[in-house]
Amino acid sequence: MPRPIILDCDPGTDDALALFLALASPELDVLAVTVAGGNVGLDRTLANALALVALTGSSVPVFAGADRPILGAFKSETRVHGDDGLGGVVLPPGGDPAPGVAADTIRAILRAAPEPVTLVGIAPITNFALALMTEPHLIDNVSEIVLMSGAWGEGNATPAAEFNALSDPEALAVLLASGARIVFATLELTAQALATPAHLAAWRASGTGRCLTAACDIQGSVPLSRRLGGTGAPLHDPCAVAWLLRPDLFTTRPAAVSMDLGPGPGRGRTVIDRWGRTGVPPHALVLETLDSAGFFGLMQERLNRLP
Ligand code: BDR
Ligand code: CA
Repeated sequence: MPRPIILDCDPGTDDALALFLALASPELDVLAVTVAGGNVGLDRTLANALALVALTGSSVPVFAGADRPILGAFKSETRVHGDDGLGGVVLPPGGDPAPGVAADTIRAILRAAPEPVTLVGIAPITNFALALMTEPHLIDNVSEIVLMSGAWGEGNATPAAEFNALSDPEALAVLLASGARIVFATLELTAQALATPAHLAAWRASGTGRCLTAACDIQGSVPLSRRLGGTGAPLHDPCAVAWLLRPDLFTTRPAAVSMDLGPGPGRGRTVIDRWGRTGVPPHALVLETLDSAGFFGLMQERLNRLP
């Protein structure tokens, strides 16, 4: 039986490839795609999610969610994703968003779910937090929460913080207090999913589908990461989806995680206790290593399943 998931995203170049990976994978039953403002504003992330879903031919409903964090101001990341969120790659417009807002939809799905649902968050996870803050008992219907979020070391948005965690640290704190097991694909993990021009050339040579081509065009627009040596750009968000498909590609470590919610330069930092120094029992699972060749092979194989 496919595993039911809700995918919360902010496309976003790497979100686009994560969406493709999820929708190409028969192991997953994507019940809803929920969208937040993040890499670019909600108007664009929503339009992008609708266009990407339509390109795959999927009829999964797409819901608009939060356009800003619980506290603080919205800040985009156009340096990586371009002003339109997809690096200037123009796709045919998608359909209309489903009626209703993301947090209501997440609660409705969890209330009615015959089996626990996995929440996959690859954006500032305001939508999940709003849903769980208003009906916390629904956590009993969550099997686990898988996030691309955080770092145990240096951040990418600030020296201390990763972009998704910084974009709504209070939301992440809500999830950490929810009692669910949270799986973290951090920056250290996603650095091992470094898409080089050679990877993209191999993908392009492997097929001619419109989604494969769009994936290569979108990822090809991303500037090579200075932080990671200038040889490629990390496929952050697909790592969270890949964990659900091929956990054998990863090594993991249980850890307690807390948030820096202060106003200073550490704000948004995920404090990850990898060595048990705090004495707090581990309630998260940190993905530590990735079989990079296996990951890129999985991506290539799944992208070729799409039209
Ligand atoms: C995360 O931030 C966004 O820019 C990406 O889409 C990814 O979800 C990486 O820090
Ligand atoms: Ca994202």
